[in-house]
Amino acid sequence: MIRIRTYLLCLSVVCLSWVRGVEAEQLPQYAPQDHLGVATCASGVCHGSVRAREATAVSQNEYVIWSRRDRHRAAYNTLLTDQSKSIAKNLGLKNAHEADMCLDCHADNVAVENRGERFQIDDGVGCEACHGGSETYISTHVDDAATHASNIEDGLYPSDDPRARAKLCLSCHLGTSEKMANHNIMGAGHPRISFELDTFNWLQPAHYNLDEDYRAEKWAGSSLELWTIGQVEAARQTLGLIKDRLNNASLFPELALFDCHACHHSMSDQRWAAGGSSLPPGSVRLNDANFVMLFSIANVVDQNLEQALRQSLAKLHKVVNKGQNIDAAISQFQQRLDELDVKITNGSIKNHADALVKVIIEKSGRSKMLDYGSAEQALMAVDMLLSSTGMRQDYAAWLDKAYDTLSDENAFDSGRFTRVMRSFKG
Ligand code: HEC
Ligand code: HEC
Ligand code: HEC
Ligand code: HEC
Repeated sequence: MIRIRTYLLCLSVVCLSWVRGVEAEQLPQYAPQDHLGVATCASGVCHGSVRAREATAVSQNEYVIWSRRDRHRAAYNTLLTDQSKSIAKNLGLKNAHEADMCLDCHADNVAVENRGERFQIDDGVGCEACHGGSETYISTHVDDAATHASNIEDGLYPSDDPRARAKLCLSCHLGTSEKMANHNIMGAGHPRISFELDTFNWLQPAHYNLDEDYRAEKWAGSSLELWTIGQVEAARQTLGLIKDRLNNASLFPELALFDCHACHHSMSDQRWAAGGSSLPPGSVRLNDANFVMLFSIANVVDQNLEQALRQSLAKLHKVVNKGQNIDAAISQFQQRLDELDVKITNGSIKNHADALVKVIIEKSGRSKMLDYGSAEQALMAVDMLLSSTGMRQDYAAWLDKAYDTLSDENAFDSGRFTRVMRSFKG
């Protein structure tokens, strides 16, 4: 018995350290290398070719795609708009485009001593904000002998690795202990932020080709795998934020971690009574949009684990409201999340695409507490699954109807959403 347990323990430690390997990676903004600036990457013979090249391993037109079509190029310019001026004024900032609070996500805001001669903050979210400071790989990555692995050893951020990619995107599209679009920033007029790794991966115009060369050297798994890993990483990062920003709070915890509409609704709405919440009336619910998809994932790989995860979430809601034993509840949740992560690392989730659509549709068709963020996650998941099984065309009209229920967050009617989900045929 003891031997079996020791073996299992070792096994899980090995698995977990593998799963967590990327946590050792430092995000580009905080790693020690200098950032030499977009201009360094952009020459016509490097990544600034107007046409895609065939003869080389990468197309070399990455700069052109980014500068013409990628929202990240405009992220700094956004800080100069009237909306940003008004946000800055509400927050008492001199302006938005010089405030770290904004630049941390809207630009490649590395420490001043890590900026090379050609670095320009107004390039917005530039190449090195995602690929890492190029000081240590700029000269070696063009060697004939260079491989993706050797580039990573030289300091290139492993953005092809789905976990490392999720961590990178989520650092700005969800937040970290260092930076967050918190309730002050939201209250000042910042739009709500939502994210799903696979959807956003496709929304950002790709400046890479998933061709044979690419697949041979880099991670090139399916949408479904990317989505699954994105869900697990978003949950992990949300738990980290709750731990940092809620448990160590002064008078008020960080309100952006709660369901916005738990507070922002009319007093005549009977949300609590209608919702079947397990919390006492008048409680503020955590925003659990980054957790609800875990149940569907667990449902198709291990139903006992689904139950365990549900219990962890219920407990988290409860202890957060009481303000007691939050750390213990978070650790338990994290442990179960790690178990789920181990179960999905073998890629077997691919065999469960049909079951997943069914489970997600079925669960969101009967959920009473479905808030806007959770509904949005459910629909993005269904869209991804229909696309990746080649059935999107057949359901285009249904998807339009479903997206229509999400068109205005302030007018979101969960009853209408669940009715559309129940009308899904197939
Ligand atoms: C350094 C911060 C940062 C990182 C890292 C980052 N983003 Fe962004 N992203 C932003 C900001 C800021 C915007 C909004 C830009 C604007 O409109 O001003 C944005 C916008 C986007 C948009 C456009 C959204 C829309 O509503 O049109 C997509 C898609 C996107 N990001 C995907 C990604 C993906 C995928 C990753 C990871 C590979 C990623 N981002 C990494 C900061 C970041
Ligand atoms: C944690 C990262 C983060 C921080 C901090 C942050 N933003 Fe943003 N901001 C984003 C992302 C991501 C988006 C894009 C949201 C989307 O479309 O999905 C965005 C969008 C915006 C938009 C809307 C852009 C558009 O195209 O409609 C404005 C305006 C804006 N941010 C201004 C600011 C200002 C001003 C600050 C500082 C007070 C700030 N942001 C701080 C991440 C951040
Ligand atoms: C918001 C994050 C982000 C930004 C900004 C960004 N990239 Fe990328 N880039 C990615 C991701 C994600 C991939 C796909 C995963 C990978 O291959 O590492 C990628 C892939 C690449 C590749 C590999 C192409 C291939 O076919 O193997 C090159 C080269 C590249 N980017 C260059 C650039 C350059 C040059 C810039 C700036 C002009 C830039 N990237 C800006 C996220 C980004
Ligand atoms: C615990 C309750 C609570 C939660 C949860 C909450 N808010 Fe608020 N919010 C408030 C309060 C209180 C104010 C100040 C309202 C006032 O002065 O009238 C406020 C103000 C705002 C304002 C400014 C509106 C105004 O009238 O000045 C915006 C915008 C806002 N919140 C957005 C959000 C978003 C987005 C979320 C979710 C990410 C959220 N809030 C979550 C309680 C909450």
